[in-house]
Amino acid sequence: MEILWLIGIIVVLMFCGVVAFGAPFLPTLSKRVEDAVELLDLKPGQTLLELGSGDGRLLKAVAKKGVYAIGYELNPILVVYTYLSTWRYRKYVTVKCRSYWHIKWPQSDAMYVFLLNPYMSKLHKKVVQYLDYSDAISLQSAKPPARNSLFGNFRRFLSDTQDRVRYVRLLPFLKKNNKNHTKQDGLYAQRKFASSSKSKYKVVSFAFEITEKKPVKTKNGMFLYKY
Ligand SMILES: C[S@@+](CC[C@H](N)C(=O)[O-])C[C@H]1O[C@@H](n2cnc3c(N)ncnc32)[C@H](O)[C@@H]1O
Repeated sequence: MEILWLIGIIVVLMFCGVVAFGAPFLPTLSKRVEDAVELLDLKPGQTLLELGSGDGRLLKAVAKKGVYAIGYELNPILVVYTYLSTWRYRKYVTVKCRSYWHIKWPQSDAMYVFLLNPYMSKLHKKVVQYLDYSDAISLQSAKPPARNSLFGNFRRFLSDTQDRVRYVRLLPFLKKNNKNHTKQDGLYAQRKFASSSKSKYKVVSFAFEITEKKPVKTKNGMFLYKY
């Protein structure tokens, strides 16, 4: 009997204790999951990051479309439930029992959150830091195209000139984040930076707005932001 009480208390703590770190478990309704999938508009092969993935319903919904889905969830019962209920889509779904505030977020194309009002500003700041970091990483690993023909050389000269202009603006950022960069890295990093900024990172938030940013679209209590 005492064991049952103990188990009961542990389960209650798992569901209520998360309030100290984020929103308690309250799943997005099925109709709203459809709205979120529509707003996210991810293509097969892209990756969604969900902060506080609950029972994994959104991870499953996007995985059905061939989208990779990574969820962070603090409640171990929900992690196990997600793991089992998305078993069929295990190639696409990853769920980890971690606090999303205390890890380095993996690279992704979009994010879904259902948090609480007090956490929205913190989220905004972390998204901005995350995107700066991702750009710096992709810059470091990029290689410039080869100068293999007269025409190629000319195109390279034009794009390098454009890069050189932009590079001046990026220099302080590169110095801060990548101590050993060369000018060539910097030029190519800038090019990558420019192309990744064009394809804007999407964040969909359910129920709560990011006050620092204007949503580009809203639908039934869902807010779509582009960073
Ligand atoms: C409002 S529910 C949303 C669940 C799911 N995203 C959905 O929309 O159906 C918030 C979830 O975030 C989890 N959570 C809260 N704080 C967290 C944290 N710091 N790290 C990971 N998960 C957290 C809770 O356990 C809960 O399952």
